Amino acid sequence: MAWCVFCFVFFSQIPVLSKSSVNMRDPKRVEQILTSMRNAGPSTLQVISDFDMTLTRFAYNGKRCPTSHNILDNSKLISEDCKAKLKNLLDTYYPIEIDSTRSVEEKLPLMVEWWTKAHELLVQQKIIKDHLALVVRESEAMLRDGYQQFFDHLHQLSVPLLIFSAGIGDVLEEVIRQAGVFHPNVKVFSNYMDFDESGVLQAFKGELIHIYNKREGALLNTEHFKELQSRCNVLLLGDSLGDLNMADGVMDLQNILKIGYLNDKVDERRQSYLNSYDIILEKDETMDVPNAILRYITGQ
Ligand code: TMP
Ligand code: MG
Repeated sequence: MAWCVFCFVFFSQIPVLSKSSVNMRDPKRVEQILTSMRNAGPSTLQVISDFDMTLTRFAYNGKRCPTSHNILDNSKLISEDCKAKLKNLLDTYYPIEIDSTRSVEEKLPLMVEWWTKAHELLVQQKIIKDHLALVVRESEAMLRDGYQQFFDHLHQLSVPLLIFSAGIGDVLEEVIRQAGVFHPNVKVFSNYMDFDESGVLQAFKGELIHIYNKREGALLNTEHFKELQSRCNVLLLGDSLGDLNMADGVMDLQNILKIGYLNDKVDERRQSYLNSYDIILEKDETMDVPNAILRYITGQ
């Protein structure tokens, strides 16, 4: 990374940015955004974050960690036959999701196909609502190191955190509830399960959120962004290029700092991530950088 001498002085205030996992295309621009956001103060800030593989770990001890979908897929609520089908979908579509040689236009219908097929399979399993808490407790879901500080800091400063996920809302809510960080400043946009009167899954509610329609999802939720209209500075966290659109509904946006976790196919995807995220975190399983940036912006 090309550091100018002024940037070097500036970034020495946030030492964690010199970690080897951190990469930026334009450090000067990052400095300008951070300075503006700090001058404006925490009352002007809102945070918008993806969930799977952004707030949760990608891997632990060399083994992949589950997404909110995978928590269910791997659980005892799913038959062996259905597990095999879900695994087959994952093996087919995940490589497409992360394929840097295909355009978003090419991937989009395939992603809709993945989500639609996976949700149809889950609905066939007659999942019972009351079993979700146990399934999450028994799962290998892991929030990133430093998550407690991240959630608690935002809560203490009453900074709204929107978790915007193409995963399963009921499952991810349970993950953060069990971790003790589902504070009142947290709001979730996601795919929610629709249970019948006896608590059996019968469908998914509302418009499907998949990896490439977060812009449409954001624009459907104008009420939320209206309430936060005075919060014109956004810290955005994601791990997919689709996550870059999560703030498209924000009103009167002044500054946005986009931090992207680059978890997989790092060399192939580095350039496209550098082109679209302000800061990229390569194979970094921690919240160290978002936490340090929040401390800097909020002055605490
Ligand atoms: P996110 O928006 O919270 O990151 O959630 C989307 C992730 O969910 C995306 O990376 C792919 C993953 N996924 C599964 O793991 N299994 C599935 O069946 C589906 C449809 C998505
Ligand atoms: Mg994600």
